[in-house]
Amino acid sequence: MVGKPHIPLEDIRAQVADCTRCPLHEGRTNVVFGEGNPQARVLIVGEAPGKNEDLQGRPFVGAAGKYLDELLAIAGLERKDVFIANVLKCRPPGNRDPRPEEIQACTPFLREQTRTISPEYIVTLGNFSTKFILKTDTGITRLHGKPTKAGNFTVFPIFHPAAALYDRSKRVALEEDFATLGRLLGNEQPAAVD
Ligand code: URA
Repeated sequence: MVGKPHIPLEDIRAQVADCTRCPLHEGRTNVVFGEGNPQARVLIVGEAPGKNEDLQGRPFVGAAGKYLDELLAIAGLERKDVFIANVLKCRPPGNRDPRPEEIQACTPFLREQTRTISPEYIVTLGNFSTKFILKTDTGITRLHGKPTKAGNFTVFPIFHPAAALYDRSKRVALEEDFATLGRLLGNEQPAAVD
């Protein structure tokens, strides 16, 4: 059976740019569509833009983003290798949690991005993206670091990098999980330090 044709990323971007599907559009400076390699093997899905992302219109450019770059390096990856998107494309005021109706309004865009990019791996960062992608109520603490097959994709949940900025004990798990991701991708691992 022939599936629905994939929508070019630039067409999805144009739709997102004009989006007024939920009230978050009223407070945004910029939509954060996502960026990276349109043919990436790995799609990284965060939660929602924060203040810096809203100002710049780019994902993960604040403190969590700096740490994400270090974590990607552990997996043998750079930003240009992956595509980074979020569950929500507009910033919730004061960085509050996404609301169910906002997730419902916004995620058709993420679904189309995923179909078009067609990655092998979807790395879900934190609870919101993991729960949405895996359609589960199980929390990230139980799911992180365990690859799960979902349709054509392997979903690999990992703690949100921002969690480690508040709780340094999460760094060990984050760094181990990114090392596992590198192994799953068959990337060279940096030599262990004694
Ligand atoms: N946190 C997210 O989940 N996404 C971003 O783009 C930035 C911070």
